[in-house]
Amino acid sequence: MARKSLIAGNWKMNGTRQSASDLIAALKVLNWETQVLEVAVFPPFHLLSLALAAVSPALIAVGAQDVSAQKPGAFTGEVAAEFLVDVGCQYALVGHSERRQYHREDDALVAAKLRRLLEVGLKPVVCVGELLAEREQGQTFDVVARQLSGALGGLNAEQMGNVALAYEPVWAIGTGKVASPAQAQEVHAFIRQCLMQQWNKSVADGLQVLYGGSVNAANAKDLLAQKDIDGALVGGASLKAQEFAGIIAAGMAVATAGVRV
Ligand code: PGA
Repeated sequence: MARKSLIAGNWKMNGTRQSASDLIAALKVLNWETQVLEVAVFPPFHLLSLALAAVSPALIAVGAQDVSAQKPGAFTGEVAAEFLVDVGCQYALVGHSERRQYHREDDALVAAKLRRLLEVGLKPVVCVGELLAEREQGQTFDVVARQLSGALGGLNAEQMGNVALAYEPVWAIGTGKVASPAQAQEVHAFIRQCLMQQWNKSVADGLQVLYGGSVNAANAKDLLAQKDIDGALVGGASLKAQEFAGIIAAGMAVATAGVRV
């Protein structure tokens, strides 16, 4: 399996200078093989510089949780993609369901943000996923397909090579109700099929698709062992050093044992 795993911690709106320093210090002493597994943290904006100063970039990547769709200028309160480059970020999330739900971000805005990131050479992690009501009405694939083409439509294959995706069913985020490995794998396989149809086999085979939604140290291994799941986007459990360490260990176990099914 050529795709590298990525275990990413989305800290959301949590953390002080002290708690961030403690968390990063705890991660830095862990062991994983960077050739097969990448670890990234996504602190809130005020902790990006601190995190970047604390990590060894070859070991732990740092990303932002959002980015402005605008270029630098008179946009009070916004953070431009250029600033993320300036502090040394490698990644940024776009289209997280909390941004879609609480800040009314639509597919067009997600697409604009994603393009800003690509323009400055940052790697977007584009989040997609259905609401519980949408799943119950059998609309999961339609919603995911719409979000994918809304965000990614018009990108060429080369640009797609700089994108990662995260499938995060909204009903599983922060609820403790994790998708079963089979439920997650089904949607991941569907995502790869969409990539194949809209681009080509090499895009579909090469793109990292993470799973997110109540991932913890106990359930990570079974999820990560699925053929089309290339890592985890972890919220709550990424704030607890031991839980996050357990997820990294699960990722390593799967990556080195070649047990993906
Ligand atoms: P959770 O959040 O792990 O707390 O469910 C995941 C996410 O929102 O990225």
